[in-house]
Amino acid sequence: MASASAAAQAVSFPPGRRAPLPPPRCTHSERGVSFDPGSAFYRSDSAPGRDLAVLAATLHRRRRPDPSAPFLCLDAMCGSGVRALRYLAQAGADFVWANDASDALHPVIVGNLSRFEPVPPDGQRRWVVSHLDATRLLAERYLRREYFDVIDVDSFGSEAEYIRAAFLALKIGGLMYLTSTDWRSARGYGGKCSLSSYGAYVRPVPYPNEIGLRMLLGGAAREAAMLGFHIKPVFSYYAYHGPIFRAMVQLCHGKEDGISNYGFICHCKSCGQSQTFGFDELGQISCRCADRTDATSITVVGPLWTGPLHDRSSITEMLSLAVEWGWAHTSVNGVTLEKLLGTMIEESDPRLPPGYIRLDEIASRAKVNSPPLGTLIHSLQKEGYAACRSHIGANAVKTNCPISSCIVVAREIRNLR
Ligand SMILES: C[S@@+](CC[C@H](N)C(=O)[O-])C[C@H]1O[C@@H](n2cnc3c(N)ncnc32)[C@H](O)[C@@H]1O
Ligand SMILES: [Zn+2]
Repeated sequence: MASASAAAQAVSFPPGRRAPLPPPRCTHSERGVSFDPGSAFYRSDSAPGRDLAVLAATLHRRRRPDPSAPFLCLDAMCGSGVRALRYLAQAGADFVWANDASDALHPVIVGNLSRFEPVPPDGQRRWVVSHLDATRLLAERYLRREYFDVIDVDSFGSEAEYIRAAFLALKIGGLMYLTSTDWRSARGYGGKCSLSSYGAYVRPVPYPNEIGLRMLLGGAAREAAMLGFHIKPVFSYYAYHGPIFRAMVQLCHGKEDGISNYGFICHCKSCGQSQTFGFDELGQISCRCADRTDATSITVVGPLWTGPLHDRSSITEMLSLAVEWGWAHTSVNGVTLEKLLGTMIEESDPRLPPGYIRLDEIASRAKVNSPPLGTLIHSLQKEGYAACRSHIGANAVKTNCPISSCIVVAREIRNLR
């Protein structure tokens, strides 16, 4: 594999010289970085997703085996270039490749990146703008042995088609930031589409937005395995606006034991219990409740990612960095990083199975009013179960407590009042 510095030197540039552009009007700002979205697709609602990317990329830069090597980022669908700019200005990238298929966005992207000299006096190029299809760009980088530390692919719809090319252009150990807005597949209304995109058959279950993240992670895990690698999710983030499913994954050396984090989730409509099954248990999928003979009560989705949604130590470090930078406590579009990352840390408890249980489901099965979420979590923890909020479902509990016991606890809470 070519060295990182060789990759930085070897990048190619789109042909043609253009006249210098006037400075951007800087109509917007994210965490102190000003830019002009111009005519590009830009959503201020997505700023927390960009904050998370910058925090994770910064920690990755600091933790690399060779921190003196140039830190290289590639933003394959950059829109206005706001992410590329933030990787340069905040994550300490030495070089950023900003690409968007639309060459009408060229002046916008160049204008925004121009606060950094493209080629400073030390001769080390800081950024490049291109207008290629993302797959072509990524494949070209791979063919030229130019590998990146962070690759960001922020697409509309499902981006499964870019995952393999992005992995090929990523350094081993590097981070890939994936996005999907394919909520139809996540919610089980796009069975054929989720099959062709992510290799997963998805049907409606009561925690569709977590399924959306697991479908995206599962697709990435499968593509990585095909190339002889495995993935580790750094964080997974569902944002209700859009809605948008995002996952930052690390590409790790070698195949894992194979399929321990990749399997099937089964939900029983009759009793409300969910379970996880591996490939070797496919013939045994059933529910322990009395209705187990009723095949229609069982919904099976998968194969998808059944392992942890986040890496606890990475999220904990991201929170510390957010505190250090003064980002943790400010609300950006209604999202506070302290709350979001705090919930993600709780969700990283390895005892927690996939999915969550909505309070209204527990309440209606228990035939009581919904218990307060905090009280329910506290009671389940007192009983020795893992229990926490979900950053995905507002009025829901993530727990390893069977739903039958949640119902008992909910009744106890109501009777005590
Ligand atoms: C969701 S927007 C990007 C927003 C931007 N990353 C941000 O954070 O503000 C998706 C962008 O991808 C570009 N795009 C769509 N298909 C593409 C492709 N096949 N290759 C490269 N860019 C593409 C679009 O022109 C659009 O600007
Ligand atoms: Zn059941």
